[in-house]
Amino acid sequence: MKDNELLEILKEHNQEHIYKAYQKLDEAGKAKLGAQIERIDWSIVDMAKKDELAQERGKLEPLSAVEISEINAKRPEYENAGLDAIRKSKVGAVLLAGGQGTRLGSDGPKGKYNIGITKDVFIFERLIANLFEVTDKAGCFVPLYIMTSDKNNDETIEFFEEKNYFGYPKDFVKFFKQEMAPSVDFDGKLYMETPDSLSLSPNGNGGWFYSMVKTGIIDDVKKRGVEWLNIFAVDNVLQRIADPVFVGATINSGCVSGAKVVKKADPQEKIGVLCLEDGKPSIVEYYEMTEEIINSRQPNGELSYNFGVILNYLFRVDKLEEILSRQMPVHIVEKKIPYIDENGALIKPEEPNGYKFELLVLDMIHLLDNCLSFEVVRDYEFAPIKNKTGVDSVESARELLKKNGVEL
Ligand code: UTP
Repeated sequence: MKDNELLEILKEHNQEHIYKAYQKLDEAGKAKLGAQIERIDWSIVDMAKKDELAQERGKLEPLSAVEISEINAKRPEYENAGLDAIRKSKVGAVLLAGGQGTRLGSDGPKGKYNIGITKDVFIFERLIANLFEVTDKAGCFVPLYIMTSDKNNDETIEFFEEKNYFGYPKDFVKFFKQEMAPSVDFDGKLYMETPDSLSLSPNGNGGWFYSMVKTGIIDDVKKRGVEWLNIFAVDNVLQRIADPVFVGATINSGCVSGAKVVKKADPQEKIGVLCLEDGKPSIVEYYEMTEEIINSRQPNGELSYNFGVILNYLFRVDKLEEILSRQMPVHIVEKKIPYIDENGALIKPEEPNGYKFELLVLDMIHLLDNCLSFEVVRDYEFAPIKNKTGVDSVESARELLKKNGVEL
């Protein structure tokens, strides 16, 4: 793109300060920054300037789950169906590891975090150990696709190499990078991270399937005949991956997706709830619900909106392809964004100083016709590590791991 064209675009979007930075660069720097500017999706960046940021929700109704008692009664049936699908190579797993773990305050890939006490126990290592429980039972391996970002891709791959993939066969592990999105200050002005680069960050966990297609990793999915993808977060160290009972229950239900859910600890728990919105499955955050909805109860006394998601979903690949071109909502999230000031000094803010733009995997559910809500035992499957201390922290996850007999 020519300099004058670049200036026009930046002017149109009130971002002339970027052109000033651009003019100071040598040819290589100009090429780099120019390419980043060309790739910007302005429809997203311009959203930060709108006054009304919240999305309007449709008509909410409860969605019942297949609950633990029912699952236990049908466990052998579900498990056999799931193991059968795994043995026929129909199931793949996708580890969402492109996030930055800002709350944990660790700069590197979150999966490298060592949660051991008397020995090394890395998050990635725990996840692979959990996956082995299934593959040992099935007698075959499950392909594992790992989503990283520009920020942590090389370090993630190096770590897996260094640890010899924690014993998992390398042929069954593939890495792919997610897309990046720019960050802006509270007035919608783009931040710069270095003199020749915008402040770019991973675009949320919702673009994972788009990125699988864009990077060509989908070819591996197709080649292996994978029909179902199990998506899960890096930071739940009790994560059950390619759980045959979940896979079997979802396949047998005829649903095109499934979500693992836990019963809410109390009505006010800050967890996204799986319900129906305008007749379609949907995940609604606690802050998007009225008090009346949050507290409404069924005749048996249970909360009507009682099941929260834990970022473990199963999707049918052909249905993901159908919704690929559909626009997902963009979430505008306040974050602490490191940037360079006008003098080129790097500032690392202590408080949120702007917005990032994120797509969320939970929004995919609403694009699909149905979703099996599948209840799991919280203390056996949900130990997220978001913070250093307190709720959902390294400490709380360690306690839960010990409770499940994991040596730390
Ligand atoms: P979180 O929403 O907890 O974000 O991610 P995070 O980046 O790990 O942590 P904070 O909010 O900065 O403290 C939930 C899951 O989604 C993945 C994360 O790696 C984690 O597994 N994720 C998140 C991505 O893969 N890409 C993203 O852009 C964001």
